[in-house]
Amino acid sequence: MNKKRSDGLATLWDVLPEARVFHYAVPHININNLEWAATVLKAANDTRTPIILGVSEGAAKYMHGYKTIHDMVCGIIENDNITVPVVLHLDHGSLEGCIKALAGGFSSVMYDGSKKPFDINLAESNDICGLAATKGASVEVECGGVGGSEDGVVSSGEKADLTECMQMSGLPVACLAASVGSIHGVYPKDWKGLDFELLTEIADKTHGIPLVLHGGTGIPDDQIKRAISLGISKINVNTDCQIAFASATRKYIEKGYDKDISKKGFDPRKLLKPGCEAIYK
Ligand code: 13P
Repeated sequence: MNKKRSDGLATLWDVLPEARVFHYAVPHININNLEWAATVLKAANDTRTPIILGVSEGAAKYMHGYKTIHDMVCGIIENDNITVPVVLHLDHGSLEGCIKALAGGFSSVMYDGSKKPFDINLAESNDICGLAATKGASVEVECGGVGGSEDGVVSSGEKADLTECMQMSGLPVACLAASVGSIHGVYPKDWKGLDFELLTEIADKTHGIPLVLHGGTGIPDDQIKRAISLGISKINVNTDCQIAFASATRKYIEKGYDKDISKKGFDPRKLLKPGCEAIYK
């Protein structure tokens, strides 16, 4: 990465190499709106945790585009005095999505070429690295496919190929999402768990590149800890926060608080508060 950023946002280069060396993982939490972004930033700041705000292409459309999100996140950081490093990262981007996110000011993108033939995924990942470098941004790439569905990005979940991971790690990428059996969304009862043998092989042969675990919701703590000890340095979580938000909001409504005229429980700022508190927790 060669260009300095003027907006104060961090990149994956700023937060992941240290995590890889000292065996911890930086959270990537997907955001969906202003409340989500402010809540995740407050939780990160209060716990002194560097944070990666993940935005899917669908969420970017929902939030009126990359520049709107960039300016909103920078505004919250300044207004709320957030002092931990914040990376604004496109999650599972297409080629076009990465180009637009970088133009809109995102400090990082994930280029997901995992459904394309590997030589094309490799070449296009390299192209995105070149473009990102001119913007002072970082790049995550993917080998294999994370199973399940993430905001319209669907995959049957084939595990990563070791040789392909080795080739990808030769690019100027900040981290590699190599699929080792995790799934987006809620895990089925018969899920076989993470493939630690494959993770160990990939970590051994990819020159210490920080590795990424997608589908962080619902993975048991012991597997998370073992994965981190083997080189996972970024863990993506989305569904967990969505479920927490939805169930807290449901409780508020089931208790009839939204119908309390004297307390104005229908005020959206009151209605959304329990959900935000649940995300924070
Ligand atoms: P979950 O929705 O399963 O937490 O996965 C999130 C993710 O991997 C985002 O890329």
